Amino acid sequence: MAADLHPALRPLAGLLGTWVGEGAGHYPTIDPFRYREQVTFGHVGKPFLVYGQRTTHPDTGQPMHAETGYLRAAGGQDGDAIALELVLAHPTGIVEVEEGHLRGRVAELRTTTVGLTATAKPVRSLRRRFVLADDELTYDLWMAHADTPETHHLRATLRRQHPGG
Ligand code: HEM
Repeated sequence: MAADLHPALRPLAGLLGTWVGEGAGHYPTIDPFRYREQVTFGHVGKPFLVYGQRTTHPDTGQPMHAETGYLRAAGGQDGDAIALELVLAHPTGIVEVEEGHLRGRVAELRTTTVGLTATAKPVRSLRRRFVLADDELTYDLWMAHADTPETHHLRATLRRQHPGG
């Protein structure tokens, strides 16, 4: 039986489902690239969304980046802003904790903690901005890495994948 959506998630209900689309990335130290992406937001009746992302090369279909975690509705409200917490694990040996707010259709989060394994690249910080417009989800990601200060790395636009569509 499907669980009822936790009341704390009502402001995030528009994210539920599977999203697919294309993105582009760049950074001062690498060649620009494009990717295909699939993102899923699910729930189990508790005050967090279950988040999964995977990307593939648009020409070869080879796996590229992936990440998985939880988007927590932290329960706090500051005026019309809703507090959010994001915890993510990356297969590149990185874990991140981000905190931020949802204001209307825009969610902005930034890392309070980045954890690195011994062989992970030295990511210093990350910042993400999501904009939800009905069936279209756009996000940007900025990263500070090694000696490069916070710089734009990713932008993608995803569309809700309707069941059977
Ligand atoms: C849609 C998701 C992402 C895609 C498709 C993607 C793709 C890429 C590609 C193709 C490169 C260049 C080749 C390479 O070094 O592997 C790269 C570099 C890099 N990415 Fe991403 N990336 C994504 C998300 C992320 C995230 C979330 C982080 C941090 C947690 C990250 C951190 C890095 C780092 C540290 C580099 C190396 C920069 C350097 O060596 O100077 N990327 N990314």
